[in-house]
Formats: sequence, structure tokens, C-alpha cells
Amino acid sequence: MDLIHAGPSTPSRKRSRWENGEEQETPRQLSPKRVPKPKRSKISDTDPSSSSSQPSQSPRPRPTPSINKLHSVCVPPRTCHPPILPARSVFTYERLNQIEEGSYGVVFRARDRQTGDIVALKRLKLDEEKQGFPITALREINALMACRHEHVVNIREVVVGETLTQVYIVMDFIEHDLKSLLTVMPTTFLQSEIKTLLLQLLSAVAHCHKNWILHRDLKTSNLLMNNRGQIKVADFGLARRYGDPIGVGGLTQLVVTLWYRAPEILLGATTYSTAVDMWSVGCIFAELILKQPLFQAKGEIEMISMIFKLLGPPSRDSWPDYYVLPLAKTISLPPSQPPQFRQKFPYISDAGVDLMMRFLTYDPECRITAEEALQHPYFSESPYPKHPDMFGSFPSVAAGEKRGKPFESPRAPVRPQDYKLVTEFDDI
Ligand SMILES: Nc1ncnc2c1ncn2[C@@H]1O[C@H](COP(=O)(O)OP(=O)(O)OP(=O)(O)O)[C@@H](O)[C@H]1O
Ligand SMILES: [Mg+2]
Repeated sequence: MDLIHAGPSTPSRKRSRWENGEEQETPRQLSPKRVPKPKRSKISDTDPSSSSSQPSQSPRPRPTPSINKLHSVCVPPRTCHPPILPARSVFTYERLNQIEEGSYGVVFRARDRQTGDIVALKRLKLDEEKQGFPITALREINALMACRHEHVVNIREVVVGETLTQVYIVMDFIEHDLKSLLTVMPTTFLQSEIKTLLLQLLSAVAHCHKNWILHRDLKTSNLLMNNRGQIKVADFGLARRYGDPIGVGGLTQLVVTLWYRAPEILLGATTYSTAVDMWSVGCIFAELILKQPLFQAKGEIEMISMIFKLLGPPSRDSWPDYYVLPLAKTISLPPSQPPQFRQKFPYISDAGVDLMMRFLTYDPECRITAEEALQHPYFSESPYPKHPDMFGSFPSVAAGEKRGKPFESPRAPVRPQDYKLVTEFDDI
């Protein structure tokens, strides 16, 4: 279980036959129980529309309704609907290994028995559901399908196991997640690499927002990365459409893992929008630079005070709506102090610091959007973004690959000046 996740995770549930690596049941066992034919009701016997009814028994011949009368102008005829096929069985795939168990599902690596493709299967946690298929699972599938993009993980299909609670999302398998990668990498990403990763992330987020989807859980463990230097945004388990009318209670505040949560959600806002994702992007940008999460708070109060420390406390100028937030009155603001960004990120350029400050802006109305960030001067100054093909590759822990033992050799002295040189000329 991932240690950085804030909040308790759903307890593990019974494993399915597929998860235990068992073979598919024999066709005899799999064949559905015979469903008794429904008894014909009297009405259907006399119903003139029934195909079995005798024409002579139809007392009044009905006029054939025109297509226009059968369908409302808003509802397209059935021939226009995409073909509805039943979900395939999970036994279409051979289970290889379990990758990870998160809060909302267990993820496996598997092989398509027909094509040989390696895929990832995420089993949705449905066991505890008493009221049918959970809305969160529907949202996850729906959002993945609505946000198809080069830098969003590709959903292939949804497959089912033997019971109604065994539902799996089949996705392309991606070798790493960024959080695990950052912990095993001996050094941090170069500035040119960070720019490439951030541009990819921003293009995916801009695409989601253009399609009216808020991700609401952007963090490094939900960013997958392949060995060709490409990022794929994953885990749409907390995603939802925005722009729709909001219910009486407003939007839930139980979104976004604590360390990546925007201040307006921490302070109880019930209406929020794309800016919450942009705050998380800022935290991810900082994590790529620091090689560790920016705000490693144990609780919400500590999280707020860490934000106040880095940004300086909010003021009427920096966040006019601060005082109308539900929890603002319960917090006593520390004495005013300037932002500490330069001290926190001494080795990035002024443009880099400026972009970071625009992501981590108090007022959501003033926070930079993904589209605007893509045009920021940080990306057009040297060192330029590195071509993804030039990224190094790493052994994939998810695929069970082991890292070779490094040579025992004395470590080179690490000095801040060396680090600065590398970041300035790393596009050579
Ligand atoms: N398509 C994939 N290819 C490879 N690994 C994947 C894939 N999808 C997910 N993973 C791995 O599984 C982990 C958990 O997946 P995901 O985030 O979708 O589940 P979750 O239960 O919603 O997680 P969380 O703990 O964030 O709530 C990811 O961090 C990643 O390591
Ligand atoms: Mg996740």
C-alpha cells in the first residue's frame, strides 16, 4: 500500500479466481443457468403489436406510425447508436502479477491471450456497495473515455469476472509511476527533462479541462511514465464533470490527496473548479525539482500552515474571497511575511520561479490555467525541453524487473555549484 496516501484506504476484499491465477472455468460451468421462458400474459396474446398475434384477432388495425412519431426529434434512432456489446470475460487475459493496491482498486499486469499485448487491469472495489454500481466507478470509466489523449492512459475495455462485483478496467500497461521512479532514481530529473514532463502533463490537463473534466487527484503516483519519456495521467477515480448544475451540498471537499490539495478546498469551499488541478500541478512541478513532495503534512492544519509559510499568509489583496470561506474564521493568520519561493528553489531560473508562483497562487480566480501555462516563457528559455526519445530508461518495478547492482565506487563530491552547472547546460 502506498505510504503517501492521506486517509484510510478501503480494506482488501476476497480475491477472485482470476486474481488467484486459476484457469477459466469449463464452458459447462460458465454457461448461464437456464432462464425460464416468461409466461405469456393475456395482454401480449391480444396485443396487436405482438408478432405472434393472429391478424384475424386484431380487432382494430392500427395505422403504422411514422418514424418521426416514434422518436422525439432529440433522440436519434437505434441505428445511430454505437453497437452495444457485452463486456468480455477477465479470463481473456492471463494474470501476470499484482502491481499495486490503491484506495479504490487493485492493479494487475496481464497478457491478452489473443494478441499477446501486455496490459494493466484495475479491479474496481465494489464489494462494499449496497446500492448498485458506484458512481465513482462510473465516473472513472466515463472520464477515461471522455479524455482520450496522448498523455492520458489509454482505456481499452471493461471486462468482468464471475460475479457482479468483479469489474476490471483494462488499460495500456505503463512501466513506471512517477512517484516510484523518483524514489529509485539516483539523481533528480534535469531541468530539460522536467520541462518536457511538465509540458506533457499540462497538455493532458488542458485537454481534460477542455472536455469539462476535473481530475481532482493529480499527484506523482497517478502519473505513469513509460521508458520513452512519456507521461500518462491515470487514476480518474475522483474525476467528475464540472459545469453541470451542482447539488444542494455543493462539491465534496473529500478530494485530492492532502499534500496536493488546493487551499480553497482545505478551507471548506464547496464550489471550486479547474484551479484545484492547477494547484496540484504546481505541487508536482515542485516535487520534480526537489525529488520529494513539497508539502509533507500530517494533517490539514499542518498543511495550511506549511502553505502559509511558503507563500506568506493570504491578504485582502492576494485573495479577496479568503474571508468568506467557511473555515477562514477558525484560523488565526500568522504575521505577514514575503513568499519564500526563491529560497526553496534556489537552482531554477526566474522564469521557473514565476511559473511555480503562478501555479501556487492563493486566489483560484488568478491561478494560471493549463492553456496559459503551456505558453509560459519558462519553456522557451534554455535549457530547452528534452525530446522524449532522449530520456533514459529504468527497470520497471511493476513488470518485476530488478535493478542491476551498481558498481561499488567512491561517490563524486556533490556541491551546489556542480548541480547548478548541470541544470544550466543539460541540453548539450
Ligand atoms: N496502466 C497502468 N500501468 C501500470 N501501472 C499502473 C497502471 N495503472 C495504475 N498503475 C499502478 O497502480 C497504482 C494504483 O493505481 P490507481 O492510482 O489507478 O489506483 P487507486 O486505487 O485509485 O490509487 P490511489 O491509491 O491513488 O487511490 C498506480 O500508482 C501505478 O503504480
Ligand atoms: Mg492512484
